[in-house]
Amino acid sequence: MTPDTAGNPEFFDVFFDLAESGFADVRRGFGGWVPEVYDLMEGDFEDDIPHILSLAAQAGGPILDLGSGTGRLTIPLLRAGHEVIALDSDPRMQEMLSLKASALGGGAEKRLTQIQADLRSFRIPAPARLAVCSTNTFLYLGSLGAQREALAAVRENLAEGGRLWLDVFVPKPNPSATEPYLTSLADPETGRLLLYGAQSRDDHFTGQSHVNAFTIVFHQGRQPDIFVQEWTYSWLHPNELRLLLESEGFELLELLGDYEGDEADDTSIQMIAIARKTR
Ligand SMILES: C[S@@+](CC[C@H](N)C(=O)[O-])C[C@H]1O[C@@H](n2cnc3c(N)ncnc32)[C@H](O)[C@@H]1O
Repeated sequence: MTPDTAGNPEFFDVFFDLAESGFADVRRGFGGWVPEVYDLMEGDFEDDIPHILSLAAQAGGPILDLGSGTGRLTIPLLRAGHEVIALDSDPRMQEMLSLKASALGGGAEKRLTQIQADLRSFRIPAPARLAVCSTNTFLYLGSLGAQREALAAVRENLAEGGRLWLDVFVPKPNPSATEPYLTSLADPETGRLLLYGAQSRDDHFTGQSHVNAFTIVFHQGRQPDIFVQEWTYSWLHPNELRLLLESEGFELLELLGDYEGDEADDTSIQMIAIARKTR
């Protein structure tokens, strides 16, 4: 089955030209995130933080932040006094988190262990009581096989009865599959201007969306930075998620549709799985 390429072919031409131009930093996989602009694009999102802090307070022990990025969750967890193990494969994301943790003061950075590793295969120094995987990071693994490997790795690194909190979109047609998504963002702090474009090709047979994107960052007084990004989402239907968790040694305790504790249903945009390690 060929992917649905109903989108705008010109977008893909721009993408491929940029990728081959030699001017762009090309990033494949891992959600295509550009660490330098992550906070500008996503840093304001705070809706999930109270929910995670309350689960962390119940769990105690080290909290494992899976795909920790620049620390959007790690920093509030450290502020709340938790020990945090922040795992991310991107060294630049790790550097940015490290700077933020040092700026917290009060010895907070001593409660932080940073691990640069792939979610599919890692080992942390002490078993975690709670692992959190936010904002679709689990879907960026790109295939069911990779998601299975990641769950097996998480289970091995959780304490007996430890919990996993997993936040992913309910599968839906990707809006950028028909029209390219284009946006610009101004950064008042630095004067940067960011131009972002993305388009995806959906493969309904495999349940994957293949995304191509570019990010151009304009600066005052110097050449722009150009990034091109290419990654795959592997969508999971609610029942698939439940089966996947069960097959990897987890019991699904709750499937929520929001951070206030309401159950997911057919109107939900996202699903938040809270699962317990069973073996
Ligand atoms: C959407 S960001 C989430 C960052 C942060 N947790 C938050 O909520 O803002 C996804 C992060 O996961 C990391 N990531 C993606 N795939 C990964 C993998 N296979 N192994 C380790 N880290 C991964 C990326 O580098 C990125 O920092």
